Amino acid sequence: MATRAEDLRDPSGPGSAGAGRGGPGQGGSDGSAGLGASRAPGVFGEDGEFGERAALAADAEDSVCRREEFLLPPAPGSCRYPEVAYFAGNSLGLQPRAVRAALAAELDDWALHAVEGHHRAAHPWLPYHAELREDAAALVGAAPEETVVMNSLTVNLHLMMATFYRPAGERTRIVIEDHAFSSDSYAVRSQAVHHGLDPDETVVRLRPRPGEDCLRTEDIVDYLAREGHRVALVLLGGVNYLTGEFLDIPAVTAAGHAAGCVVGWDLAHAAGNVPLALHDWDVDFAAWCSYKYLNAGPGAVAGCFVHRRHVTDPELPRLAGWWSTEQATRFEMRPELVPVPTADAWQISNPPILAMAPVRVSLRMFAETGMAALRERSLALTGYLERLLAEVVRDRPLEIVTPADPARRGAQLSLRVIGGTDVADAADAAAVAARLHETHGVLADVRRPDVIRLAPVPMYSTFHDCWRAAAALAEEVNPV
Ligand SMILES: Cc1ncc(COP(=O)(O)O)c(C=O)c1O
Repeated sequence: MATRAEDLRDPSGPGSAGAGRGGPGQGGSDGSAGLGASRAPGVFGEDGEFGERAALAADAEDSVCRREEFLLPPAPGSCRYPEVAYFAGNSLGLQPRAVRAALAAELDDWALHAVEGHHRAAHPWLPYHAELREDAAALVGAAPEETVVMNSLTVNLHLMMATFYRPAGERTRIVIEDHAFSSDSYAVRSQAVHHGLDPDETVVRLRPRPGEDCLRTEDIVDYLAREGHRVALVLLGGVNYLTGEFLDIPAVTAAGHAAGCVVGWDLAHAAGNVPLALHDWDVDFAAWCSYKYLNAGPGAVAGCFVHRRHVTDPELPRLAGWWSTEQATRFEMRPELVPVPTADAWQISNPPILAMAPVRVSLRMFAETGMAALRERSLALTGYLERLLAEVVRDRPLEIVTPADPARRGAQLSLRVIGGTDVADAADAAAVAARLHETHGVLADVRRPDVIRLAPVPMYSTFHDCWRAAAALAEEVNPV
């Protein structure tokens, strides 16, 4: 890990500039034009613990960041910097430069080989998904046979529920968070209806305690101990999309199992963000998308995990198609499939190769860098942003709603814009976020009504990005 990142983790030491790669101090490919006397520094100034120079120096010594391998949107013309400081990678990750060539290669193989590309393409299309399996497994802490890249996230959640949501007797409930992403909410309600159940009675939404934003592990565990005998399925977000809270997946999974429930996880905001050990945590199933931290492009093909004890159970009910059967006999066109003892058994259709290519590129990048190194960098980066934001929110109508404990969060910090107070010329989070972008080139996103989400993404965000975000926020929101 870069020593400069460690310095910034310790508030006492800004340290000196070095010569690592990918940092803003190296000539502006990252969006920084470098420090210049003619340019006004942000509110944190140039020097000192929270100065711009310290942020640039940290980036210059960083050996994990792969910023130069990504394409950044330009900042609006009035901005001090040529490129945006991108904080919306928890919504849509940046484009890896390597994706264009990977797509072009598939188009070339299609042109050159047509149908024979299934066997003769550089990455043969017939077993294409298998090429992604090991890297996907490493990403989520699984065995290769427990993972498959397929479909999109909500579709995979439905496929998992087709197998694992088996309401019976009084055990019918599905437990989600009250702050669950809407798609999950709709998905579980539709599953209840699909089984002839009343969704209002079947779906239980766990709420934080009054006055709190995040769920407490002990409250989830307590609910499952009391009511678990009525619960068929627990389906929670590993990292919450709104608050950025990283739930204690092993503790909640164990509590669900103790109560006899199936426990699945939506890892949309966790995959590529935090280290996961799905096999060892005994998770029943999980699904994640590839367009956020995994940078595989809008609507990218998603991932799915099924624990080994389930993949080897041929009796489980599954929805099936020709890609569910074993490859060796697939073209014998038998009326009945031959189940495979891997997560591939949940595949239905043949994979969309043009959409899989960016996922292959992306998963390789994660395998090369490794989640351990990314997490170490992420802790430093998000911790640095948090310390800067603490200076900003101190006397402004803003509060950080993400847990303060680094173990209970990933990269994202969510800020609530507290209404009814003197917020510059802007009254709400959306207006503040718009000004961050238009005036400062800081691209964050908003979840209504009042939350701005800032995600310094460990794969490509820089310390200087964090500095820009905090300085911009301090300029756009007036102290009270
Ligand atoms: C937590 C969570 N779940 C589900 C979804 C929906 O994903 P998809 O449209 O890929 O099914 C999203 C999308 O952002 C999400 O953040």
